[in-house]
Amino acid sequence: MKTSTRPLIAGNWKMNGSRAFAKDIAEALVNRLSEHEEVGFEMLLCPPAPLIDVVRESVGASGIVIGGQDCHTAKQGAHTGDIAAVMLADAGCNYVIVGHSERRGDYGEVDAVVRDKAAAAQMAGLIPLVCVGETVEQREAGEAVEIVTKQVEGSIPNGSSASTVIVAYEPVWAIGTGRSATVKDIAEIHNSIRTVLSKIVVDGESVRILYGGSVKPDNAAAILSVDNVNGALVGGASLNAHEFFSIAEAAPS
Ligand code: PGA
Repeated sequence: MKTSTRPLIAGNWKMNGSRAFAKDIAEALVNRLSEHEEVGFEMLLCPPAPLIDVVRESVGASGIVIGGQDCHTAKQGAHTGDIAAVMLADAGCNYVIVGHSERRGDYGEVDAVVRDKAAAAQMAGLIPLVCVGETVEQREAGEAVEIVTKQVEGSIPNGSSASTVIVAYEPVWAIGTGRSATVKDIAEIHNSIRTVLSKIVVDGESVRILYGGSVKPDNAAAILSVDNVNGALVGGASLNAHEFFSIAEAAPS
């Protein structure tokens, strides 16, 4: 089933960029957007935290929205180096990525932590993009559906709804490898995520489910037209304005 909302095309810059880079890319995207009379997608940029203000200034009133890449579970306190969801909201963000596989891998973030981060984001008025995805070993062992189902069940806060949570399916083996999942695999996993969401979220059939993992201009149209794919979370290709915009233009409106 397709949701009625526009596909969300999200760029995850990870730990890349500078103020000059951020300004250039955001301005280029705003220019491309202004060439369109009607825009069939929603565009989200998730820069590193020190670049949020320059991106916000550069996107102005274009409609491009901004998100953080992670947040802490607490509102404030003695957590050196961490960022609270309320701070991201205060800086002009509307979204935040939580539970990205690089955070799960580098910092041992388990589902319960991801769920608490997502809840903190919701408390701050942000929409969390909750990331899930299996490793190559789990896929080869035939456990992909089971693993992703468990991650969704464990990482989505109680009381979430289609307007307060987004899920991003990102198979770990497809991230930054140039090897995207096949449309058949994507369809299978997104369908199973939809089934879980329908059980645990009141309007689960309308929650947006993004695909991420080596989305490029040449595979975007095929991926974005798969059933239950409501957008994309783009890493590497989001660092190039032309490539990122081409991906967004491939979204069915
Ligand atoms: P990629 O990254 O597009 O470079 O594979 C996706 C992500 O990690 O969000």
